[in-house]
Amino acid sequence: MKQEKLIELAFKAADNAYCQYSNYKVGACCLCKDGNYFLGANIENASYGATNCAERSAIFAAYSNGYRKNDIEALCIVTYGKRIGSPCGICRQVLAELINQDTPIILANKEEVLITNISELLPMQFSKEDLE
Ligand code: THU
Repeated sequence: MKQEKLIELAFKAADNAYCQYSNYKVGACCLCKDGNYFLGANIENASYGATNCAERSAIFAAYSNGYRKNDIEALCIVTYGKRIGSPCGICRQVLAELINQDTPIILANKEEVLITNISELLPMQFSKEDLE
């Protein structure tokens, strides 16, 4: 799937954001190698802490449908903000476990696109290997 299409799908997801507290819409699209994809939006909560970010919504949807890290081709995260949105710390920790280190993470707003991966976003990771 072309990058532009992935970004367009992620913006569609952003329009489903439930974000009455921040009014900051985030959308994500988790593209799988078989062409299937899963959308996610940020879903806020009056408790604030129970909020789920868009990228976690998308990746959890992929996992909930039986996909695993080796099945994931790319993850795209978009916002309408002035600056490109960068995944929060909790999302980085989740992505470090649920996608491969070099899987493209495409960050975009309406003006620009930045491609990175989780090894760049979260160096010196704590992971299950630490528990061995
Ligand atoms: N948010 C995301 O969905 N993804 C991120 O990576 C950063 C933050 C959401 C959480 C909350 O609903 C809103 O953006 C403001 O923090």
